[in-house]
Amino acid sequence: MKVTTLGEFIIERQADFPYATGELTRLLSDIAIAGKIVNREVNKAGLVDILGAQGEENIQGEQQQKLDVYANNQFISALKAGGEVIGLASEENEDYVNMDGGVSSNAKYVVMIDPLDGSSNIDVNVSIGTIFSIYRRITFSGPATLEDFLQKGSEQVAAGYIIYGSSTMMVYTTGFGVNGFTLDPSIGEFCLSHPSIKIPQTGIIYSINEGNYVHFPDGVKKYIKYCQEEDINSDRPYTSRYIGSLVADFHRNMLKGGIYIYPETAKSPKGKLRLLYECNPLAFIAEQAGGVASNGYKRIMDIEAKELHQRTPLYIGSSDMVEKVEGFIAMYAEKVST
Ligand code: AHG
Ligand code: MN
Ligand code: MN
Repeated sequence: MKVTTLGEFIIERQADFPYATGELTRLLSDIAIAGKIVNREVNKAGLVDILGAQGEENIQGEQQQKLDVYANNQFISALKAGGEVIGLASEENEDYVNMDGGVSSNAKYVVMIDPLDGSSNIDVNVSIGTIFSIYRRITFSGPATLEDFLQKGSEQVAAGYIIYGSSTMMVYTTGFGVNGFTLDPSIGEFCLSHPSIKIPQTGIIYSINEGNYVHFPDGVKKYIKYCQEEDINSDRPYTSRYIGSLVADFHRNMLKGGIYIYPETAKSPKGKLRLLYECNPLAFIAEQAGGVASNGYKRIMDIEAKELHQRTPLYIGSSDMVEKVEGFIAMYAEKVST
């Protein structure tokens, strides 16, 4: 059987666009190469003294792990050297990094990245990932400015993730469906393994940190109870699965059918997840696979971004399931207001 590598696939796809310049192709390839390098470090995390917290807090007030720093540096330097990116915003940096000048002077893309997602799982050998999002700059020349980064998710040109799991995969979309590539370590190539991924319209998996139950909005509490009720027709009670790495929870639910929820809580009134680095890219992928991504009230990709590290509640996955929980949220909101 002929194996299609990620590199071949990207080039074949771009050939359908007569005006394509190859810049996006090179940018996606740069991300894939940096991902392979991070993958190598993730795989030997148990072997070398790279484990453990670095002792610094990132600007979100969370402890940084060494691999977070490593992955952040790796993606920044790969994209700087690649020359296709005018600026990059990372979950790990307070401000965006400007890349203008030198090889990047005429670059037209900006990148948003969560270099290492699920970093609390590094020390315990559980799946982690990288999430990225690519936009066209909206300013015309010179260094990138904040408005280049504060675009709505609906403006994304491409988005994807790399999951460092039992195998390593890169999954991405450029707005023409979602395709997944598994790294074959023996040849060092991502190979097309999951063409045209579609999220089942409904599923039996719900993923939420139920430890926070007492702090959830009432609509979410009601939905959880609904998931746990017995009903033969709808295959309930559903199965609860929560890894604590958004990428891994999302990936499983996309393949099997399910919903991932991180609502607003008393502790995180705006939710915990970041709109630009986590929610928008996964929302683009979810929609391209036939799923839905919402903040409980509206489409994630329609949310106005006001700041780089903006947070939002997230309800993402199979369309029937996301619509169901939105129904509970709306029903309860009405009850409160009447
Ligand atoms: P990150 O490691 O990039 O900070 O992201 C962690 C996120 C996400 O991956 C995960 O789903 C969620 O935080 C887990 O949060 P809780 O521990 O509060 O459930
Ligand atoms: Mn994350
Ligand atoms: Mn992270």
